[in-house]
Amino acid sequence: MDRHLRQFVYGLGLWLLVVTVPAAAKAVKVTSPDGDILVTVSDYKGIPRYSVQYRGETVVEPSHLGMVFRNGKPFADGLVISGSTRDASDSSWEQPWGERRTVRDNHRELSVDFARADRSAGAIKVRFRVFNDGIGFRYEVPKQAGLDKVEIVDELTEFRIADSGQSTAWWIPARGWNRYEYLYNTTPLQKVDRAQTPFTFKMPSGTHVSIHEAALVDYASMTLDQRRLGTLKASLVPWYDGTLVKTTAPFKTPWRTLEITPNAVGLLNSDLILNLNEPNKLGDVSWVKPGKYVGIWWAMHIKDKTWGSGKKHGATTAETERYMDFAAKYGFDGVLVEGWNIGWDGNWAANGDVFSFTQPYPDFDLKAITDYGRKKGVRLIGHHETSGSVTNYKNQMDDAYDLYQKMGVTQVKTGYVADGGKIKRVDENGIVRNEWHDGQFMVGEYLRSVTEAAKRKISINTHEPIKDTGLRRTYPNWIAREGARGQEFNAWGSPPNPPEHTAILPYTRMLSGPMDFTPGIFDLGFNGLDAQNRPRTTLAKQLALYVVLYSPIQMAADLPKNYEAKRDAFQFIVDVPTDWEKSRAIAGEVGDYVAFARQERGGKDWYLGALTDEKPRTLELPLDFLEPGRQYEAQIYRDGAEADWQTNPYNMVIEQKNVGSGDTLTLKLARSGGAAIRFRALD
Ligand code: NOJ
Ligand code: CA
Repeated sequence: MDRHLRQFVYGLGLWLLVVTVPAAAKAVKVTSPDGDILVTVSDYKGIPRYSVQYRGETVVEPSHLGMVFRNGKPFADGLVISGSTRDASDSSWEQPWGERRTVRDNHRELSVDFARADRSAGAIKVRFRVFNDGIGFRYEVPKQAGLDKVEIVDELTEFRIADSGQSTAWWIPARGWNRYEYLYNTTPLQKVDRAQTPFTFKMPSGTHVSIHEAALVDYASMTLDQRRLGTLKASLVPWYDGTLVKTTAPFKTPWRTLEITPNAVGLLNSDLILNLNEPNKLGDVSWVKPGKYVGIWWAMHIKDKTWGSGKKHGATTAETERYMDFAAKYGFDGVLVEGWNIGWDGNWAANGDVFSFTQPYPDFDLKAITDYGRKKGVRLIGHHETSGSVTNYKNQMDDAYDLYQKMGVTQVKTGYVADGGKIKRVDENGIVRNEWHDGQFMVGEYLRSVTEAAKRKISINTHEPIKDTGLRRTYPNWIAREGARGQEFNAWGSPPNPPEHTAILPYTRMLSGPMDFTPGIFDLGFNGLDAQNRPRTTLAKQLALYVVLYSPIQMAADLPKNYEAKRDAFQFIVDVPTDWEKSRAIAGEVGDYVAFARQERGGKDWYLGALTDEKPRTLELPLDFLEPGRQYEAQIYRDGAEADWQTNPYNMVIEQKNVGSGDTLTLKLARSGGAAIRFRALD
């Protein structure tokens, strides 16, 4: 054979070898700074996969990664790892308000590039961050041919849970009419069908895991769908037309997160979600004010008053001024007033299109009220119920926020009461489209409200919200939200919240961020103590909620007269702060009980809240969170010996004793009971 021909044949052979014999699978690994968590990313059989081990135990078995587009080749198979880069960071940042002033962000990073094995165009990056208490990963899709206009029709992310047959999960269903307002299920993991996140489970080893997402911006919310037993697949909430996400490359997805801790309490002390969000984009946010508020609110829920106009109208000038007097007397910052604006008459939940966000009812004098509040040092808290008619809201948003700004209203509660999948969007052609509260469209609408409000130095407390994914770090005026069954269900819910509800919330919903639960109902028998609808707690447990369920704004939800009637118990609500220097969960098991200790921001005092489910229990709590060497007066509000949520909910002992960090406190909690303690620094 001629030399050139020989060389050609040899070259051809080599080339054939390269394209026909798949290269051995590649795997790259990264561990957490303390070495406890190991993430392995591979291209085995051309499919991008990751797996997670914790202290040598497999938590996530090799699970698919990838996404599928309406047009253009999917990132699903035929892929190889074409490169990877590493990084690490250990830094701290300060929260303008929060559970703790300083947050440490200590992680290692591995970015893995996938390319097509056949060398055709196309690239996707998966960036992993591994912390000591969990991991996050996100897709980054660079600009590339064929992906100018992107429509994602499937995200292939899976979580194949090891030991799923013996794990217990706490979860609420996804894609239901009642959004996030379901009772939590406690089931074997394999009994889950489609769940919302945060999705929490406990493995037989005792390892606790919570799957969620961070930084949900311009993307659809992720829910988890169990098809093959043990495999939770990302199920993104669609637009009205079935598309999951509409975007253009380059784009980044939210972070898919797994908090992984040796016990239940570990989950409560994780800052992983906040660490995966971008820093504050609003600059000086000293105008965002944590605080406590009362409101013309519970009266409507227990049917003493109405939102609509008429004889029982709650939102009158006189009634608001009465609440402002009460707020000023006891040091509350704000008074929420619902039902002040035109649109509440008739079936308000169904007629969102007639809401005006600038026109008050004639018996509500907005100017006089805000002037009165200014004199008293109390602010009116604004309210916008949209009933899901978001185009109607959007059309009035500028005027509505401008009006509030002019009147000195600095916090607005918004509401999106509409069935899941029934948000009313009027498109560019005037056609009504029904959207989900947690699809990409609404993810954008909620953020629009927050960023438009920020321009006017207004904070937003969203009800019927999109779930929290830590965006308060980036937009600190997103001060709280609902997003679970709150106290209101005790007024009219069928059934009301069971005793275990607030022993599950900390380990599930609260892992995502602050909740406007609205604690503090003192008249537990507004329909009689035997009635079906009433808070199924003791009085002491209502107080415990102020420390257990974190929110920078806390409502004292009951009527003023019910606080005046129990002035001694009310003192705890008067004293408790809502902004913290430090927070530490100190005891608990999911669905059973929980205890938190928190130190007042900028102060020396500590507070403790503990509560239990339907079982009475005794907690032995070491006070080692207190500053060593300092003496404290513990002002204890605890269940009395006879306390029982059903038969004797008001039996409560208020007592004082001096304690220090070396002491251990024994706390007896009644059935659905609790305890609330202020540790007043004595020197
Ligand atoms: C539901 C909210 O959760 C509740 O707090 C409010 O009172 C009603 N919607 C009316 O807006
Ligand atoms: Ca609600």
